[in-house]
Amino acid sequence: MKIENVKAVVFSPTGGTLKVTQALAQGVGLPYEIIDMTTPRTRIKAQTVFGSDLAIVASPVYYGHLTALAADIFKKLIGHNTPTVITCVYGNRHYDEALLEMQNLLESQGFIVIAASAHVAEHSYSDERHDIAAGRPHAADIEQAKEFGRQIRTAIDKSDFVAKRGLAVPFNPNPGYGFPEHPEPYIPKTLPGASDQWPHCIRICPAAAMAIRNDELHTDKSKCILCMACVKSFPNARFFDHPLIAMAKDNLAKLPPRENELWL
Ligand SMILES: Cc1cc2nc3c(=O)[nH]c(=O)nc-3n(C[C@H](O)[C@H](O)[C@H](O)COP(=O)(O)O)c2cc1C
Ligand code: SF4
Repeated sequence: MKIENVKAVVFSPTGGTLKVTQALAQGVGLPYEIIDMTTPRTRIKAQTVFGSDLAIVASPVYYGHLTALAADIFKKLIGHNTPTVITCVYGNRHYDEALLEMQNLLESQGFIVIAASAHVAEHSYSDERHDIAAGRPHAADIEQAKEFGRQIRTAIDKSDFVAKRGLAVPFNPNPGYGFPEHPEPYIPKTLPGASDQWPHCIRICPAAAMAIRNDELHTDKSKCILCMACVKSFPNARFFDHPLIAMAKDNLAKLPPRENELWL
């Protein structure tokens, strides 16, 4: 099969998914385009149409699933029997049903999933007191993703390679968890001062959840996906200290490191 280009679509609020996707795309060894769908500002190419080039579609895992916002974005992609790599990136707990959901969604839109991968990256809730896969993807993770890209290219280049539906994508039959009900809303807060950073917080928010009103930075709880992009990028302006979050972080920090998983 002849492939000349790679188009990689990525949703990556805190950057881990983007790093892995870049490594995969580089590994394929063909000209590639990264289409970053993370913020409304960068989502201009949302209605991307794919031909016979290789697609890579990559998303973080939230609560063991493909998050609703990423699913809405990916619903606008149109494939034409496009050979596709689906990649989920998760914070060392589990990807549960996320890959399967990506496969089902994309195969209903004209993509043929020929390869899949689940990579560990630093958890969005990792901080200086809770090491949750901190620093991943590290150099060996990146090299492994590149090598997987090379393997995909080798498989596709074989003269008898035909993209076929039906790759057996794994899933965890005991899927993940959300935050339990609690009277205090799950939402990042704004620190006093640092108001010069508020426009930047608004700019990087994937969910357009923040707005300045009456000289205050407001967060719309119904829109916020708790991605931690504002908290990680602007710690002097934003923080997340829900009463239950420290306990969740303690538990996540105790998990042994997981390996990346690749299917071709
Ligand atoms: C709301 C939320 C839910 C998450 N749920 C999971 C999960 O179920 N399993 C897991 O291992 N990591 C989970 N994570 C961690 C992210 O999948 C991980 O940090 C990923 O690298 C984030 O991608 P990004 O850096 O591209 O934003 C969650 C993160 C957030 C923000
Ligand atoms: S307000 Fe919510 S959705 Fe927006 S960047 Fe912050 S955590 Fe993410």
